[in-house]
Amino acid sequence: MVGIAQTEREQETKRVLLSLAHSIQERDIVTYEHSRRVATYVQRLARYIGWSRQDARNLALAALVHDLGKTWITNDILNKSAALSNEERRKMERHPVIGATILIGYEIAPFYVEAVLYHHEAWDGHGYPAGLSGENIPVSARLLAIVDVYDVLTSQRPYKRPLTTEDARKRMLQGSATSFDPELLHAFLCLLDQMPNFTLPQHVCGLPHQPGEPMSPIIDL
Ligand SMILES: [Fe+2]
Repeated sequence: MVGIAQTEREQETKRVLLSLAHSIQERDIVTYEHSRRVATYVQRLARYIGWSRQDARNLALAALVHDLGKTWITNDILNKSAALSNEERRKMERHPVIGATILIGYEIAPFYVEAVLYHHEAWDGHGYPAGLSGENIPVSARLLAIVDVYDVLTSQRPYKRPLTTEDARKRMLQGSATSFDPELLHAFLCLLDQMPNFTLPQHVCGLPHQPGEPMSPIIDL
C-alpha cells in the first residue's frame, strides 16, 4: 500500500510540475526553452555521475521549473536587453524564492523546492538567495547551477551571441572553485568530451501534457 501511495504522490507531483512548466511556456518562451534544455542536460549529468534513472528524472522535473519565479517578474525587467540596474537586479534575484514559494503552495516535496530555491547559490558562498557555500548547497542545486550557466553561455540572446562549447568550457573552468562544485564541474566537462553533440538546438519540442502521453525525443520523464 505504501508503494502505491508513493507512486500516486509521484504521479501527482509530475502532473503539477508539468502543468507549471506549461505556465512558463505561456508566459515566457525563452525561459521555457532554456528550462527544457537545462532539464535534458541535468538529467544526462545526473545519470553520468551515477544517479538512478528515477532520481535523474526527478531532477529533470525540478529543472523544468527552476526559473518558475520569473513568471512573476515584470516584462520590462525580464526582457530587458541592457544591463539591469541594482534595483532591477534585486527584483530579478527574487525568482528562486518566488518559485520555491509557489512549489510549497502546491505541497511539492522538499527535493524539488530545494533545487529551485538554491540553483543560484555559489560554491564559495557569493550566490543568492541564502549565500550557502560548499556542500551546504544541496547537490541537486549544484548540478543545476552548472548546466544552467552552460546553457546561458551557449544560447543566443538579444544582447549576446552564443559561445562555442569550447569557449563555454573555458569560461566555466574560470568559475571552478568559486561558482561551481569543482568535482561536479570536472564530471560535467568529462561528459562534454564524451558527447560531441551535447549542446541542444535553441528550439526544442513541447512537453507531454499528462504523464503517459508520448514523450519528447530529447527528454525522458
Ligand atoms: Fe534562475
